[in-house]
Amino acid sequence: MTPVIRIADMHKHPGAEVQVQGWVYNKTGKGKLQFIQLRDGSGICQCVVFRGNVSEEEFEEGKRLTQESSVVLTGQVKEEPRAPGIPGGYELEVHSLAIAQVAEEYPITPKEHGIEFLMANRHLWLRSSRQWAALRVRAVIVHAIREWLDANGFLNVDTPIITPAAAEGTSTLFKIDYHGEDAFLAQTGQLYNEANIFAFGRVYCFGPTFRAEKSKTRRHLQEFWMVEPEAAFCDLQQLMEIEEQFVSHIVQTCLRDCAAELKVLERDTSHLEKVLPPFPRIHYDEAVQRINDAAARGELVPGYDDPVPAIEWGDDFGSPHETYLAAQFEKPVFVHHYPTQVKAFYMEPDPNRPEVCRSVDLLAPEGYGEIIGGSERMSDPEKLIAAIAHHKLPQEVYEWYLDLRRYGSVVHSGFGLGVERTVAWVCGLDHVRETIAFARTLTNMRP
Ligand code: 4AD
Ligand code: MG
Repeated sequence: MTPVIRIADMHKHPGAEVQVQGWVYNKTGKGKLQFIQLRDGSGICQCVVFRGNVSEEEFEEGKRLTQESSVVLTGQVKEEPRAPGIPGGYELEVHSLAIAQVAEEYPITPKEHGIEFLMANRHLWLRSSRQWAALRVRAVIVHAIREWLDANGFLNVDTPIITPAAAEGTSTLFKIDYHGEDAFLAQTGQLYNEANIFAFGRVYCFGPTFRAEKSKTRRHLQEFWMVEPEAAFCDLQQLMEIEEQFVSHIVQTCLRDCAAELKVLERDTSHLEKVLPPFPRIHYDEAVQRINDAAARGELVPGYDDPVPAIEWGDDFGSPHETYLAAQFEKPVFVHHYPTQVKAFYMEPDPNRPEVCRSVDLLAPEGYGEIIGGSERMSDPEKLIAAIAHHKLPQEVYEWYLDLRRYGSVVHSGFGLGVERTVAWVCGLDHVRETIAFARTLTNMRP
């Protein structure tokens, strides 16, 4: 039996007779020769059908192949440095050809299509090489995330998606009917992570999270994947050390394992190569100062025609602020000690300056904005009760969360990294809708 191989493994079989199973990405040729660019999910390879190498019937069959027709080709692997493809460098000299289906006229052609059309045809668009590359990078990122956390003492303990209360503000909740009771899709697993650290020390949850975001930006989805590590006996400084190791591992793994994909995406990887610890750290006060100095000088936001807008101390950053700040550094930058008033109720205020809290966001370079949000958590029960009341949240539903501060409370911290923003950054994509197979945006939940 001829072995079935994947295109990504062709280099392991030079000279061998093999079978590849896939879809026609493109086809050219005339007379005695047909060149089929075959796509099998692992890569694309040039397959050469020469009249003398296949039966007359098979040669005629080959002529019927249209874009996206499914086909099984058998032949010999030839090393050919000029052969195009992903990764390229090998071609298949076809000895036999069997059609599974001749595809109908395919709606996505190599010409330009508008984004609305492509999103409406996302189920087909996924087959295009850029989309293929981005989702392969995503899979490597997900793997690298788990690999680093598992190797560094974080236990994977997943948290519920159906939840009775808000954790990241009440304005972005998706409400569902839980057998006659109101419930909400999880905005975060963090509160449950905080329970879990008292059982396991260091944990992470990793799953889909939901935010009814009214914003249509290129960084927001309604459903996104977030990995949330949480650690007991960990303060803000230790948290930043964990984050920079973690993010560096993710980026360096992509550079090592996704060279072909990043090439398809035409990603300039020079910025990514610099992503190694330590990352710069700046206080929110300094960030405001830098922004307002730039605004006073009339500086433009890098990559845009608009000037850097001034900011009032106490306000959260908008994306032009984040883009400007991140552009001041070669690596991702930590901004710590945000104003307490713009952050979630559970963040530990600075004891000497309660108007700021022990929070830290990580801003990615090149305009990709906040990829991580995290903080030290409030560990004193009385302070937490006051914060819950201040945010007008119902204390009864947080009683279990308060218990965590009653039985062996410790300094603890954690963070959440958004997978889609991380993929967008690593791949150099403009919009997070291309970083997940089927994006849920404000205006689109189909297909
Ligand atoms: O800063 P956020 O809201 O933090 C939390 O949810 C914390 N509970 C995490 C924690 O400490 N355990 O979100 C964390 C990250 C953001 O930095 C961003 O990367 C991503 O999640 N994110 C989104 N990604 C896509 N679409 C959205 N609507 C997102 N909202 C947040
Ligand atoms: Mg945030």
